[in-house]
Amino acid sequence: MKNGKFLTLGIETSCDETSIAVTADGRELLSDVISSQIAVHTKYGGVVPEIASRKHLENINGVLEQALAEANVELCDIDLIGVTNGPGLIGAVVIGVATAKALSFATGIPLVGVNHMHGHVSANYLAFPDLEPPFLALIVSGGHTNIVQVTDYNECRVLGSTRDDAVGEAYDKVARVIGLGYPGGPKVDKASRDGDPEAVHFKRVYLEKGSLDFSFSGLKTQVLNYINKERMAKREISVPDLCASFQQAMIDVLVDKAMLAASRTKADRLVMAGGVAANSHLREQLGEACRKKGIRLYVPEPVLCTDNGAMIAAAAYYKYRKQGADGLDLDAYASLPL
Ligand code: KG4
Ligand code: ZN
Repeated sequence: MKNGKFLTLGIETSCDETSIAVTADGRELLSDVISSQIAVHTKYGGVVPEIASRKHLENINGVLEQALAEANVELCDIDLIGVTNGPGLIGAVVIGVATAKALSFATGIPLVGVNHMHGHVSANYLAFPDLEPPFLALIVSGGHTNIVQVTDYNECRVLGSTRDDAVGEAYDKVARVIGLGYPGGPKVDKASRDGDPEAVHFKRVYLEKGSLDFSFSGLKTQVLNYINKERMAKREISVPDLCASFQQAMIDVLVDKAMLAASRTKADRLVMAGGVAANSHLREQLGEACRKKGIRLYVPEPVLCTDNGAMIAAAAYYKYRKQGADGLDLDAYASLPL
């Protein structure tokens, strides 16, 4: 406690970001330190799990010190420690969980494990102080793509999921094929700004009529086939046009399915979460579709969309209030259902 406020420390290490944040009374963000490993993994064209774990271990103490200093608090002021305990790269998740458990054991501060995907949704509680469940959510990240009905804090009913690649995974794979490098999402986002989304036609995959599931793995093959065909014909490929066209094929499906889920569940509020929610075109087009249907769209600023400790602190606060603390036997999981 400091100044009568309940302080939560949020720890996130599930992929390539070592991040620790401090929140006050659940919704006020005091600090959010994010140490990115992008530069390290870029030369391999993607995240190398073993290197990610080692980097988390190197970075985490410094990130903790900085998060406390920026929030102007001491470790003894903290009332709750929240940590991502899955899903994610197991070696990376373990570093966060072991750190959280060591801190909890040494200080007696209660500990709570957070599902990373509930964390992404919870970023919206920091961005929109009045937002409360229930609402509909579109979760689009590097590892997951889901449409869910959020029934309560850290609780949801899954309406649709990807059957193969996640949206972010499709962005990263296609960016690699085009030669844009890692991470692909932000690069395709930027390149698309100067491109024509109708220049190349890629098939939109809707699966069975009325399905809220997704399938994006075929897109990479379509892009690859297009590149090969153009190269064989010795035609020059416009990277902005290709990026914009590929991206539009995904955005069309995401927007249509989100609108279908909204009308089916009679939702008037839609929350978007996850790294791909940082995409400028998706934000714009989903916003436009929601405006037409009278749905209020909530999307946090980009830094709260990609992985961060703040979203974990937000989710932990509500989980602790409802269920109390986890024990020091808290485990780390590569996969953890929503
Ligand atoms: O949520 P996140 O940070 O990590 C996971 O939980 O997976 O999502 C990372 C994914 C990556 O695939 C990255 O390429 C994508 O989010 N991403 C974007 C953008 N920024 C990050 N995709 C499209 N446009 C962006 N601006
Ligand atoms: Zn994430």
